[in-house]
Amino acid sequence: MITHDLHTHILPGVDDGAKNSEDALRLINALWRQGVKNICLTPHFYTHKESVEDFLSRRTESANSFLPLVPENISIKLGAEVFVTKYLFSEERDLRPLCIENTNYMLTEFPYEARFRGSSMRQVTRLRDLGIIPVLPHVERYPALMKDRGLLQELVYMGLIIQSNAVSFTEARIKRKLLKLLRDGYIHVLSSDTHSMERNSPLAVSVTQEYIAKKCGTEIIEKLELNASEIFM
Ligand SMILES: [Fe+2]
Repeated sequence: MITHDLHTHILPGVDDGAKNSEDALRLINALWRQGVKNICLTPHFYTHKESVEDFLSRRTESANSFLPLVPENISIKLGAEVFVTKYLFSEERDLRPLCIENTNYMLTEFPYEARFRGSSMRQVTRLRDLGIIPVLPHVERYPALMKDRGLLQELVYMGLIIQSNAVSFTEARIKRKLLKLLRDGYIHVLSSDTHSMERNSPLAVSVTQEYIAKKCGTEIIEKLELNASEIFM
């Protein structure tokens, strides 16, 4: 059973996810009712629009007022969905605070048109050299990776963790392809990427879990859960 969600836009007022504490608690309760008790709050950080400092201070401000409202039986970690551009590296500062709290795992988003041949590969290498393990969110949004298994394989060899959105497994045009990637070991983590009850609804987590269990067996669910728990620890 999936009890971890490593990619959410629940932290209120920081990005295009939850607008206020009420919305945020609704999302947390929806996840909790499905058995998800370990949640990373990963607001968007657009590195070409804002400095690390400014992003972290906005995140801290929201966390300070929101976290005391979260029920005690939910375990929360702060993180960020970092949009990787050259600006991420230009400040030459410690990037560890952008990783999932107390880990070396960073949710790293690339432009969807990325071909993963030139600059994005150099950026992945740079992150690895800094001791950071990139977690690639919603692999299904990168046409280059969905078309080219070799490229995906290369990223996995470089140490990338691949995440897919639960809701994508409910989309007819893509779900079979995702099941294949999952069976072949190219999807390591399943997350909601929830922004609201409508946009990437948290309810997709249980629907997709049942779908995957039916199509591939429960061992894959246990593997996804194990992978997420190792990152969350
Ligand atoms: Fe996201």
